[in-house]
Amino acid sequence: MSAIPVLETITAMREQADAWHARGEQIVLVPTMGALHEGHRALVAHARTLGQRVVASIFVNPTQFGPTEDFSRYPRTIEADLAALAATGADAAYLPSAEIMYPPGFSSRIDLTGPSEGLCGDVRPGHFSGVATVVTKLINQTRADVALFGEKDFQQLQVIRRVVRDLDIPVSIAGMPTIRESDGLALSSRNRYLNKVERDIAPRLHSILVESAAMLADGRMAAPLLSKGMAALEKAGFGPVQYLELRDIETFLPVIRVERPARLLTAAYLGTTRLIDNVAVLPKT
Ligand code: PAF
Repeated sequence: MSAIPVLETITAMREQADAWHARGEQIVLVPTMGALHEGHRALVAHARTLGQRVVASIFVNPTQFGPTEDFSRYPRTIEADLAALAATGADAAYLPSAEIMYPPGFSSRIDLTGPSEGLCGDVRPGHFSGVATVVTKLINQTRADVALFGEKDFQQLQVIRRVVRDLDIPVSIAGMPTIRESDGLALSSRNRYLNKVERDIAPRLHSILVESAAMLADGRMAAPLLSKGMAALEKAGFGPVQYLELRDIETFLPVIRVERPARLLTAAYLGTTRLIDNVAVLPKT
């Protein structure tokens, strides 16, 4: 298998991007924090269908982690990641250093309202501002025409769509359905933290979402069903359950009862590992 070209500076990345654009080729960016798994490989494969050139960035972004979060223990598996990207047929890996992303004197951050409010925005203050800032930089640095994100981080996807629209960034944002294990567990770099007992419990996050979504789709009042879902998660062994909430797909505002397409989202700890997941809720009529 041939090695993948690794670009480590903004200049090298832009020269490559300009050469591709000069040939009329569109660039699809798959931003990642590394520790790549099947879900990332599926993203790269899907990216292939959206443009002629695929760049995967790998950067563990410090500004989206809170002071007590897992930045230092976040898995870093760069050799395996580069091999995986080469195997999936990405055209280049973009690996900027922390010094390139945040040089001395760096002072800017994107200030957000709207879809960043509530859910992960409440329990991870500053997280989405860090994500929006780094994604904007990555899009600018790679001169991407399209940027592709997994729907597992559904709120993140909504935030990025809003930022790109609000700041007139000339890029298309694409989302891709969550890739799951055969038992329903959403693929995540953090799944490797789960011990055997936790790994057996983990798929309940998805099955409880699916069960709750089926009841919500009937158009019944959401609040009691959400309380019941929270209780089911706790009974299954999750705790603390940070949220189980229903949001409108367009406005991303809380939904009282499902009359239009909505999304049911959750975040819960299993031992020391924080898991998130979400499913679509479509009204039955
Ligand atoms: O979803 C992620 O892995 C990260 O939030 C992203 C989009 C790569 C930004 O650091």
